[in-house]
Amino acid sequence: MNQDVALKPGFAGHIPASWADADAAALSAGARVGVSPPHESAHLHVAGAAPYIDDIPEAAGTLHAALGLSPVAAGRLVNIDRERLMAMPGVVAVFTASDLPGVNDCGPVVHDDPILADGTLRYLGQPVALIVATERDLARRAAALIKDCLIIEPAAPVLTQRAAHARGDYVLKPAHLIRESTEGALERARVAAPHRLRGQFSLGGQEQFYLEGQISYAIPAENDGMRVLCSTQHPSEMQHVIAHALGWRSHQVLVECRRMGGGFGGKESQSALFACAAALAAHRLQRPVKLRLDRDDDFLITGRRHGFEYDYDVAFEETGRILAIEADLIANAGHSADLSGAVMTRALCHLDNAYFLPEVAIHGYNARTNTQSNTAFRGFGGPQGALLIEIVMDRIARALGRDPLDVRRANFYGTDERNVTPYGQVVEDNVVHKIVDDLLADSDYRKRRAAIEAFNRHSEVLKKGIALTPVKFGISFNVPHLNQAGALVHVYVDGSILVNHGGTEMGQGLNTKVAQIVADALGVGFAAVRCTATDTSKVANTSATAASTGADLNGMAAQDAALTIRARLAGFAAQRYGGSAENVRFANDEVKIGTTILPFATLVRQAYEARVQLWSDGFYATPKVHWDPKTLRGRPFYYFAYGAAVSEVVVDTLTGEFSLLRADILHDAGRSLNPAIDIGQIEGAFIQSMGWLTMEELVWHPQSGMLLTHAPSTYKIPTANDCPDALNVRLFDNPNAEPTIHRSKAVGEPPMLLAFSVLLAIRDAIAATGGQGADPPLRAPATPEAILDAVDAVRSAAT
Ligand code: MTE
Ligand code: MOS
Repeated sequence: MNQDVALKPGFAGHIPASWADADAAALSAGARVGVSPPHESAHLHVAGAAPYIDDIPEAAGTLHAALGLSPVAAGRLVNIDRERLMAMPGVVAVFTASDLPGVNDCGPVVHDDPILADGTLRYLGQPVALIVATERDLARRAAALIKDCLIIEPAAPVLTQRAAHARGDYVLKPAHLIRESTEGALERARVAAPHRLRGQFSLGGQEQFYLEGQISYAIPAENDGMRVLCSTQHPSEMQHVIAHALGWRSHQVLVECRRMGGGFGGKESQSALFACAAALAAHRLQRPVKLRLDRDDDFLITGRRHGFEYDYDVAFEETGRILAIEADLIANAGHSADLSGAVMTRALCHLDNAYFLPEVAIHGYNARTNTQSNTAFRGFGGPQGALLIEIVMDRIARALGRDPLDVRRANFYGTDERNVTPYGQVVEDNVVHKIVDDLLADSDYRKRRAAIEAFNRHSEVLKKGIALTPVKFGISFNVPHLNQAGALVHVYVDGSILVNHGGTEMGQGLNTKVAQIVADALGVGFAAVRCTATDTSKVANTSATAASTGADLNGMAAQDAALTIRARLAGFAAQRYGGSAENVRFANDEVKIGTTILPFATLVRQAYEARVQLWSDGFYATPKVHWDPKTLRGRPFYYFAYGAAVSEVVVDTLTGEFSLLRADILHDAGRSLNPAIDIGQIEGAFIQSMGWLTMEELVWHPQSGMLLTHAPSTYKIPTANDCPDALNVRLFDNPNAEPTIHRSKAVGEPPMLLAFSVLLAIRDAIAATGGQGADPPLRAPATPEAILDAVDAVRSAAT
């Protein structure tokens, strides 16, 4: 952070002035965590002065690349007419798969992801050739001509996961999460149960829609080296795939990323193709090459959140308590595995959400289709798992004529019993009951439900609905070795501090939090601490900034480094001024040694002159996590984050439109490192998730497989107008039961689950158009068409 900025009342939406005053007081008293300094780049963001990769001044001789895309969704690529492309104005080179010196693959886990198409065409939009020209526009014009330069034998594409599932065609082996109290207990429970429900549910995918599109800028370096500026959540992975593609070793490649204009999971693995393509061209031409995608190409080439189809069968008691559940989760993986295995595992491990499921069998299928390869998106499969159980809760309640909230409560995980997840992890830190009680009181849920019922009795066209849904979300990568991080902290002779760590900044405020942690550890103001670009030559072998673990992992590593330096300084101070090192205090840019008080910078200079090492690395590995990928058993999560939301909507049953009137959210960020940033994350995730569930619709042409919704003109993300007038977000003050960094909790992804309440409130409103027990067959996204279909179904069932 570059300056000490006192918090201005109301600077982040819903923060009360009294809170801002308390925050400012805590800051001046020396608190550096648990306070809300603005995002380290906020002043640059708002001034348009924060450089993204395309803003960095170009090196002399820079060339520009564009990708030529497959015009068919399936088939065999027989020939590419390179000469015709080369003859286009400004074109300098055309590269195809055979030009790669190393392997033609950029798959993050399974090696099934060609950088440029080999003989087989797998989806419409697949890159087949890389065209390099003197100007970006010329490269793009040539690339647009590709369809006339290919000889293709087309084949019939498989476009839906249901179709692929029927053929048994998967990108990975199906995964089964099964728990039975005794063998055969699931079948016995459902035969004996007083109630049983079967159903299907359909859930669409979601485009990340980062504002900065995919981009890589590769600059050749001496002696077969390459420096690549890449908008990526995973610089180390980019380093590896570039090295493989060029047939090099990792130490020849340096990947750097100062910030992304959003990632949302879309730049965890899928920045790889562009990084490799730019590096290939830069290497072959020995010139700097930039590849910046146009938005339509970004949609056509890259994958997104997996759409899911579900079949389920649930048995329950009169109270609504679930006795047994079996479900098939069929994801559209697209043409390759990408991260689909881990996404499905997270879906399976989040189907329980906040509920104890005694007998469970969940089957996960990653169906292979001729579409873009689907990938990480905020929540990483967790939302797709948890939404199903919330739909089930709602249907059970309607079948029994009970308030869905009471059915939910009847199923919550207990604290001492009924507290083991289907994958064997004990839920040790359950606060869902407390959060729901608090939110119920705060949001006036019961009173508002009664008012809504009264409104609906007299309103023919407009119907209101309300829903409360809870959140339980597991934090950690479920591949245990990914749960590690490194950092590098430099204290310069003038007392200023430079922090580098393995995480990446995508707007989520990670650098701000890490700077706060370092400022706290060394007792200095934010003005003393500056964060730098993520760089594979500074911290090696980093994990993706993903799974919401950025601050948990990198914050701990940076603290470790800072505390090492502090211990050296304290040792030196004790030696020079007397007393013991443990009693040396660092706060407010000063160091107190007994009765001696020195400016931090003075002690630093003295230590330097005494030849004390003033920089350090730091490291962290999350304890306790373990996982058996064969049996799907273990402790995949270090802890859980909780939350709950109440949403109220009004639906126009003639047009199918809806409006979110009010949302109340109570979310557990542990002991928040930066409450303003955490509230921003919660608001952002909630609205982003509402967009996924209600308006963002992906449509592929049913014959050609062309993604028709490939630009903002046809793909609608929520805007400020879609935010409710009342969006009340509060943090639930709940120090993490585990000793995480300052007892905080990860906050990036869990709030995605909060917006389930919007979809279920819409269901509730539609149900009001029918009689007692009406159960709307509403699919997601709940677009006006989907809402009208559900209204029709409910009305015709009532007559
Ligand atoms: N917030 C912003 N502004 N931009 C982003 O791209 N990505 C989300 C979340 N919040 C994202 C964001 C996703 S998918 C994850 S996993 C986390 O941030 C990653 O950062 P963290 O681990 O530091 O929370
Ligand atoms: Mo986030 S989907 O884990 O990048």
